[in-house]
Amino acid sequence: MQFDELIAEAKAVRLRAYAPYSHFPVGAAILGRSGRIFTGCNVENLSFGLTICAERGAVCAALAAGERDFVAMAVVADSREPVTPCGACRQVLAEFAPEMEICSANLHEVRFSARVIDLLPRPKAGILDNP
Ligand code: THU
Repeated sequence: MQFDELIAEAKAVRLRAYAPYSHFPVGAAILGRSGRIFTGCNVENLSFGLTICAERGAVCAALAAGERDFVAMAVVADSREPVTPCGACRQVLAEFAPEMEICSANLHEVRFSARVIDLLPRPKAGILDNP
């Protein structure tokens, strides 16, 4: 997978993040099987727990546009280490694309790639599995 275009999209949408509390803008871009790319940025709230991460924003944009089948995702932040999705986002990503590869990058092109299933093993085991 060539991540350059996805990283460029994530970097661009990161500039639209609403992060007045953390001052840590994040951008994400997800590639659908159709070839379309959807983007998201973090949207914070004064009630901190309501913050929506960039990754979930991108997934919601894709679903709303009719895309549910995902090939790859990129996440960009201005961090020393590339930022990998938080636990909540891993669970949401696993709902649709456990095999998807995510490439995290910082602004200095340091990258880290991993599949969702390797970031969050057994994401659905036992849930609603009544005897
Ligand atoms: N954040 C993301 O949007 N994605 C990540 O992968 C890590 C964290 C956001 C949430 C919050 O607005 C800020 O970064 C600091 O945690």
